Amino acid sequence: MKIKIAMIGFGNVGQGITRILHAERQTLLIDHGFDFEIVGIFGRSKGSVLAAEKGTDTSQVLKSFDSQGDLLALDGADSELTAMDIIERSGADILLEMSPTDLETGQPAIDYIKAAFKQNVHVVTCNKGPVALAMHELLELAEEKELQFLFEGSVMAGSPVINLATQNLAGAGITSFKGILNGTTNFILTRMKQGADYQAALAEAKDLGYAEADPTNDVEGYDAAAKGVILSNLLTGAETTLNDVACTGISHLTIEDIESAREKGQIIKVLVEADLCEAMPEISVGPVHLPLDDPLAAINGAMNAITFETKILGPVTISGPGAGREETGFAMLADMLQIHKMNG
Ligand code: HSE
Repeated sequence: MKIKIAMIGFGNVGQGITRILHAERQTLLIDHGFDFEIVGIFGRSKGSVLAAEKGTDTSQVLKSFDSQGDLLALDGADSELTAMDIIERSGADILLEMSPTDLETGQPAIDYIKAAFKQNVHVVTCNKGPVALAMHELLELAEEKELQFLFEGSVMAGSPVINLATQNLAGAGITSFKGILNGTTNFILTRMKQGADYQAALAEAKDLGYAEADPTNDVEGYDAAAKGVILSNLLTGAETTLNDVACTGISHLTIEDIESAREKGQIIKVLVEADLCEAMPEISVGPVHLPLDDPLAAINGAMNAITFETKILGPVTISGPGAGREETGFAMLADMLQIHKMNG
C-alpha cells in the first residue's frame, strides 16, 4: 500500500526530500517495501497542491518547479490553499512539517503538528522551533494517539545524532556533550580561514541552502542554542529554553582573530557545550579556541560533529553533514522509513 505523504513547506528541505524520493523510488520499494504518493504540498510562496484522490508524482512536482519555479502547473494546484487545508483534507499518513523556523514561538509549526495529530497523522519535522519549545508536549500528544513524532533532522541534518544519543547510546550514561551544531557558522569560519571576508562567506552559505531564512539565528548562535536545548531536553527530560543558554555569536569575529588563534596552534570553532549532570542542564554556545588535536578541530565547511561524554564508553564522536537541502531531506526520509517499519 502506498504511504500518503503531505508536505508543509517547499523550501530547501521540501525540495531536497522531493528530489531524494524521486531518485530513490525504486530502491526504496525494493529494499524497504516503501511505496508512496504525495497527497498535498503547501508552499508559502510557490503555490500549493491538494491531490487527495489521485496523489501526485514527484516527477510532476519537479517538472513544475524546475520549469517555472513554483507548483502551479500541477493538477490540483491552487494558490489559495492554506497549510491547514492540506493537513485536514489530504488524507495523509505522514506529514512532513518543514515550515520556516520561529525560535521565539515555535509557530505556526506547533499548531500544524497538533492539527496533524488530530487527524491521526504521524509527523516528521526538521523544524527546530516546535522541537526546542514544545518537544515534551508534542511527544505526549503523539503517544496518546499512538502516533510517531520524529525530528532527526532538527539536529545535524541527516547525520543520525538523535537516534545515536537516544537509541544506540541508551544506557551508556551521557554526562555531557560538546559539538559543532551550526553548519553556516562553521562554513563561514572555514571560508574566513581561507581568506574570504565575512559577508561574502555568509552570502555563499545562503546560496548553498545552509543558512536559515533569517541568518541572524545562525550567526548569533541561536540556531546552535536551539539544537543544544533539543538534545539536552531529550536526554534529560528537562524543559530548558533558549533563555537558559549563554549564547555568543560570530558576527564580531575578524580574520585577525582567526589568524591569531592559528599562530597559537589553535582554531576557532562555535561550540555548543552542555553539562547534563544537574537537574537543569547547563548549556552554552560561542566561539571557542580549540587545540588542533581535538576531533572537532578538523570539522570544516557545513559539516557538524558532536562528542558525547559517556560513563561507560568515554567520549563518542560522530561527524557528518549538518545543513543543506538533500542533507536535511535525508533525515526526513530516515524518519519516514522508521515510521514505515514500526507500522508496516
Ligand atoms: N541553518 C542551519 C545550519 C541549518 O546552518 O546549521 C541546519 O539546521
